[in-house]
Amino acid sequence: MSTLLDISNIDMVFDTPKGPFTALKEVDLQIKKGEFISLIGHSGCGKSTVLNVVAGLLQASTGGVILNGKEVNEPGPERAVVFQNHSLLPWLTAYQNVELAVNQVFKNKMSAAEMKDWIEENLSLVHMDHAMHKRPDEISGGMKQRVGIARALAMQPEVLLMDEPFGALDALTRAHMQDSLMEIQEKLNNTVIMITHDVDEAVLLSDRIVMMTNGPAATIGEILPVNLPRPRERLALAEDAEYNRLRSAVLTFLYEKQRKVENFSNKSTVVEKDQATDVA
Ligand SMILES: Nc1ncnc2c1ncn2[C@@H]1O[C@H](COP(=O)(O)OP(=O)(O)OP(=O)(O)O)[C@@H](O)[C@H]1O
Ligand SMILES: [Mg+2]
Repeated sequence: MSTLLDISNIDMVFDTPKGPFTALKEVDLQIKKGEFISLIGHSGCGKSTVLNVVAGLLQASTGGVILNGKEVNEPGPERAVVFQNHSLLPWLTAYQNVELAVNQVFKNKMSAAEMKDWIEENLSLVHMDHAMHKRPDEISGGMKQRVGIARALAMQPEVLLMDEPFGALDALTRAHMQDSLMEIQEKLNNTVIMITHDVDEAVLLSDRIVMMTNGPAATIGEILPVNLPRPRERLALAEDAEYNRLRSAVLTFLYEKQRKVENFSNKSTVVEKDQATDVA
């Protein structure tokens, strides 16, 4: 299959008061239609920067991003972003938040009735039918996150960009959201780039796990293909030898090859291998 999204040799240099800071160096990745890519790496390595360049929110210093043969220079509805902090407009209901995005994309292409059906269909995809007329302050964090995902999906983006979408959720809600996302992606064949700090999440969801080296001048260290058959079922996978091999390959990359040493108040803290599977 041919490349849908070409992240072509990106360098990102930020101007800072202390002079230029090279955050990314020669980040190069080709993604096919329908692929689910996870970006994983230690905090501050440059994952969000990569995602923001693809979203068109940042312009790369060298290299660029090509989607369907066309260079990306600005944000566009064909690249919907789900942020970690579920950025919903607080004075609008869940339905109205999705409606705003749908209006932007389908204004002259759908009748009012079609639009209503489409908004409701997307909210029901994330199991929000029962609370679609509530405002963000009337629903839980997990529900807000689901509305954010429905809003992104309703734009029918070519590429879904997600920056730690489930990071702030409790473990049960997170598991539920991961399962819904797998279901949705199987149904719609979306192309997804998701940043995560969670090794199990990366293995469960991805077709490829892109592991980034520590910055400055961070780049892609290794790419791990995940060929586990779909649909994937978390309980069965816990016992699966291949699943566990992949999981330890990611942990080895993060905690041996890219071990991170940080200074906290003059004390040197080393992230050790067998700690929690969330990346520090
Ligand atoms: N606008 C900016 N100006 C200067 N430096 C920046 C800017 N944005 C990001 N950086 C620096 O670039 C590096 C990468 O940042 P980025 O936010 O992409 O990391 P990340 O991998 O997403 O981290 P985290 O996992 O903590 O979210 C960091 O050192 C950060 O301080
Ligand atoms: Mg980030």
